[in-house]
Formats: sequence, C-alpha cells, structure tokens
Amino acid sequence: MDVDEGAIARAKDGVYGEKQLVNVSERLRRRYFRRTEDGNYEVSQEVRDMVSFRRANLLTFPFPRNQHLVLCRNVVIYFSAGTKRKLYEKFFGCLAPGGFLVVGTTEQIFDYAAIGFRQEGSFLYRKPAEDESDIKSFRSGGVAHEAGQGNRIPRQNRK
Ligand SMILES: C[S@@+](CC[C@H](N)C(=O)[O-])C[C@H]1O[C@@H](n2cnc3c(N)ncnc32)[C@H](O)[C@@H]1O
Repeated sequence: MDVDEGAIARAKDGVYGEKQLVNVSERLRRRYFRRTEDGNYEVSQEVRDMVSFRRANLLTFPFPRNQHLVLCRNVVIYFSAGTKRKLYEKFFGCLAPGGFLVVGTTEQIFDYAAIGFRQEGSFLYRKPAEDESDIKSFRSGGVAHEAGQGNRIPRQNRK
C-alpha cells in the first residue's frame, strides 16, 4: 500500500537489482526470481499471484481485521509523533491476537507498551495472544508461530 501511484507501479514491476537482493540466498533467488536479460531479478509468477497492491493513504484506509503480519518500513519518518501513534494504534487494531508488526531499523516504537504491544526484538512487536501461555517468546529462543497450528503449540510440547 502506498499513496504514490509511481511507488505502486514499481512494486508491481517486481524487478530488483543485485544490490537489493544482497541478503537473499542463491537458493531463494532460484526459487522465487527469474533472471532478466539485463541481469536483474524479476519476482516469480507464483509470488505475484499472492500479492495485491493498493494506492491508499495508510492514515485513512480502513485496514482489514485479523492480520497476522504488518510490515511498515521507512514510511513514518514523514509523520509527527501524534500521527505515528495513531498509525501504530491502527496497526494494533487490525492485528489478530499474536500477530506481528515489523518496522524499519530507525523506527523503534518507544510507547509500544501504552498501545498494547509486546516488544519481541528491536524492530519487531507483537499483539499479545488471548492466551499468552500458548505462544513461545522469540526472546526465549522459541518460535513464535508453530507451523500449521494457527499459533497454538501442541499440548505435549508445552512447558
Ligand atoms: C522512503 S519510501 C519507503 C518505501 C518502502 N516501504 C521501502 O522501505 O522501500 C516511503 C513511502 O511512503 C509513502 N507514504 C508516505 N506517506 C504515506 C501515507 N500516509 N500512506 C501511504 N503511503 C505513504 C511514500 O509515498 C513513499 O513511497
């Protein structure tokens, strides 16, 4: 989502240069990208089919509820403290219990606890699950989401 049509068009293109994929392994590049004639990487159709794009203002667009993950990086640099707080409260509201918010490396949320988030890492915040004992913390070296269990850790694996 972006207010700028040009940014949406670039995202839809899905073409990345070598520098932008510096942290993407060769295995993932082969799996999810196609090499273009000019040496860039184009996102595979498989991934494209899972993504939708929207030109919209984050501050006014009504987010769908019960999201498991929100990524918002390098956007709030433009916002006042009050506007940031409103946006983070909006993200909190649209997350499912146990859902994560990822922000940019310069965008730590200082008042995360007042909004209701738990901090799971420098740039990673989580809306507490309804039953916190059902989720292992990243901090304790656990895995936040147990695959296929919809956030639920099988009873036999619980401490
Ligand atoms: C520095 S770019 C970062 C883009 C991308 N998130 C990234 O990390 O590469 C900031 C983007 O935020 C968009 N933006 C600024 N205010 C916005 C708003 N209220 N709603 C949606 N997008 C916004 C701008 O149009 C711009 O494309």
